[in-house]
Amino acid sequence: MSKKVILAYSGGLDTSCAVKWLKEKGFNVICYLADVGQGQNFQTVKTRAMKTGASKVIVGNLKKEFVEDFIWPSLKANAVYESKYFLATALSRPIIAKELVEVAHKEKASYVAHGCTGKGNDQVRFEVTFAALDSKLKTIAPLREWDLPTREAEIRYAKVHKIPIDVTKKKPYSIDKNLWGISIESGNLEDPWFEPTEDAYQMTRAIVKSPNKPCYLKIDFKKGIPTKINGKKLDGIKLIGKLNEIGGRYSIGRSDLIENRLVGIKSREIYEAPAAKILFEAHKALESLVLDRETLHFKEVVGLKYSRLVYDGLWYTPLKGAIDKFVDSTQEPVEGTINLKLFKGNVIIVGRKSPKSLYKKELATYGKGDKFDQGLAKGFIELFGLPYKKG
Ligand code: ARG
Repeated sequence: MSKKVILAYSGGLDTSCAVKWLKEKGFNVICYLADVGQGQNFQTVKTRAMKTGASKVIVGNLKKEFVEDFIWPSLKANAVYESKYFLATALSRPIIAKELVEVAHKEKASYVAHGCTGKGNDQVRFEVTFAALDSKLKTIAPLREWDLPTREAEIRYAKVHKIPIDVTKKKPYSIDKNLWGISIESGNLEDPWFEPTEDAYQMTRAIVKSPNKPCYLKIDFKKGIPTKINGKKLDGIKLIGKLNEIGGRYSIGRSDLIENRLVGIKSREIYEAPAAKILFEAHKALESLVLDRETLHFKEVVGLKYSRLVYDGLWYTPLKGAIDKFVDSTQEPVEGTINLKLFKGNVIIVGRKSPKSLYKKELATYGKGDKFDQGLAKGFIELFGLPYKKG
């Protein structure tokens, strides 16, 4: 009996070559294709995998779980990597890896494989998750092992082996897409001085082409999770889809950064995440209304750590689990409505209200009805500044 391997398959050049390469090594290859909202034609991709030599293709619809168990927790934590990356790719890896492990168990396979290169973060995210969930599974990373150092070499390999791939279209970028956003790298973006041309962006319009009037949106939250847009209840997948569409039109959520990869390389990547940008701004605005100062400030520190845990592939780890519990315990009062407008790439918060609001007009006001006793401030400042008093 040949050895069984479950391959995380995308239908692209790398994983298509990987199917063939694994078969040549004597494996029975089962392809696992995850639907995380990338909007692919799964039938075409399935057929391609079978033609390339897979013995079976399994498509997993992970969208709902991706939103509820991966995206929402990172939103509640306000996790943004290096201030600009909403972690769309990084969040999708642990869920795909977890599914791969489950499929391996069901299919009684002792190997799992992925199509990540040896230079990126994704290999770490996959393999750390495999190890955390079942350390007996053996991992194969064809791209680290085979002798196909360039895209051209892979295309030659595909041609020689009659692998059905799409090489007619010129693909200048490496793109990873899901519900939560899109990551775009390589090609001319490898020059940090090079200004990305409009063809690089897939989800958002250029600012000059975005509408000249703002678009107002009201977003409702319950326990830190968005539930409605303009009063209309929507499930998570639809809500994100709608915000991506509207936000994209208003050029929301583009970012361009030199980021620090876990493996020590600085790389240039551009991202688009309209829904993520809108929801992060709205969520933070609501938290500022309902959370007390110390919790709010501590959450900023926690969010920073959370973003690194996600980026570094440490999803299934004790610290990440403990932080989730802490974050959840802060989200009970994060309920209410944010009024915002989208305009030329900006998300502008214009109003907020909540039944759990801690804002007290009678303390803040400079007008009538002031209940704040200014006389108390004198003694407070005296003691507050005491440790630093000179002379
Ligand atoms: N740099 C991002 C990360 O490590 C995205 C990686 C995938 N990017 C891509 N363009 N294929 O999470």
